[in-house]
Amino acid sequence: MTSATAALGGADVEDRELDSFDLTDPRTYQTTDVHAMWRRFRAERPVHRHPATAAGPEFWVLSKYDDIMKVYKDDDNFTSERGNLLVTLLHGSDSAAGKMLAVTDGPRHAAIRKLMLKSFSPRALRHISEQVVQRTRMLLGTAVERGEADFARDVAEHIPIATICDLLGVPEADRAFLLGLNKQALSSSTADTSAEDSWLARNEILLYFGELAEERRRNPVDDVISVLATGRIDGKPLDEDEIVLNCYSLIIGGDETSRLSMIGGVQALMRHPEQWNALKQGEVTVESAVEEVLRWTTPGMHFGRRALRDVEVAGQRIAAGDIVTLWNTSANRDEDVFDAPETFDLARTPNKHVSFGYGPHFCLGAFLGRVEINAMLDGLRAVADRIEPNGPVEPVFSNFLSGLESMPVRFEADREGLAQWS
Ligand code: HEM
Repeated sequence: MTSATAALGGADVEDRELDSFDLTDPRTYQTTDVHAMWRRFRAERPVHRHPATAAGPEFWVLSKYDDIMKVYKDDDNFTSERGNLLVTLLHGSDSAAGKMLAVTDGPRHAAIRKLMLKSFSPRALRHISEQVVQRTRMLLGTAVERGEADFARDVAEHIPIATICDLLGVPEADRAFLLGLNKQALSSSTADTSAEDSWLARNEILLYFGELAEERRRNPVDDVISVLATGRIDGKPLDEDEIVLNCYSLIIGGDETSRLSMIGGVQALMRHPEQWNALKQGEVTVESAVEEVLRWTTPGMHFGRRALRDVEVAGQRIAAGDIVTLWNTSANRDEDVFDAPETFDLARTPNKHVSFGYGPHFCLGAFLGRVEINAMLDGLRAVADRIEPNGPVEPVFSNFLSGLESMPVRFEADREGLAQWS
């Protein structure tokens, strides 16, 4: 997925049978020129029937922007309640279905979303946004002053999770504990943590949110947990699972996605010095740069649905019960929608990328995600003159997320900019 791997060869991609690309296998994204692969899918087989694999049964793969938008919009014919990612769709179910926003449909989804939206409006987020800017400046200032950093681990990693803790109202004293659990919960496929350890960590997080919700029910304050703990739908409080799962869903939805976008954005700026200069000199707005970073990086490569009834997509009959996957990575490079889609162009307008999805499940945290990337780009251009790679990068190992776990960089400071921050 990263352009580091892109070098491995369009030629190989051109010679292969489309059926031979195993989209369930995380290794595919590390060893294939993914954009060359998606170009072929869009041109030759925009509605592809992916063969069954070790990971599960057959499923549909949509790669054209318009087809993907059609399915995102259509919650009459497509459900999220049997999973919205390959891993849960292939498993056949999601244990949070009907309770957590992303995997709930219909009136219940609309009612919980309406309740949560109160905390996600730009006005409600003003204070949180200011904290994002402060935190980003502090981390960037330290890293640039030092002259080098692992941009992923020393800078980007600390911003989204701390922001979500602000949003949820997790007390300072509990944050290290929660962050530790979250790391454990996420690391089943990589580090020394066993699948059972990460399952236990996830349960501990849910228990923690349960206790915090209980406390907020008694003493509500201005945070998302209080909104969920005291909110009512049709005159009744939300049930315990709905409260804790929707708290957790902010970590699931908003931590890695934002982080990977920031890291990928900086990687793209290092590879396109003319774009860095345009940003640095103020020739492009940070707002349009944010949108291009979102399009370019597409941190969530795919989402998915199940067909509720027989339905046609691009002339292809999809049967009731079939799994349909929507490849944002491909939609965001669709040559029928974007001019020169393979060009990283911070001034791109219009830029109707699908990185935040579309329709009823459109990302609840889109404003916040944009605030985070904006703070990063704006901060960098203020205090750095140059950023350069400083060692090998480490890609994430996933069939869902795309980006880098580790990205050592070297900075040349903008002394005037740094002085203004101190
Ligand atoms: C939903 C992407 C940041 C919370 C989604 C969806 C996408 C997405 C594509 C739709 C999923 C579907 O249709 O099945 C992203 C990206 C982000 C980001 C690329 C950052 C660059 C955030 C943040 C938060 C968040 C910061 C919260 C703090 C959510 C939630 C949903 C969601 C709760 C479910 C909404 C619903 O089903 O109604 N996100 N997200 N996301 N996102 Fe984000």
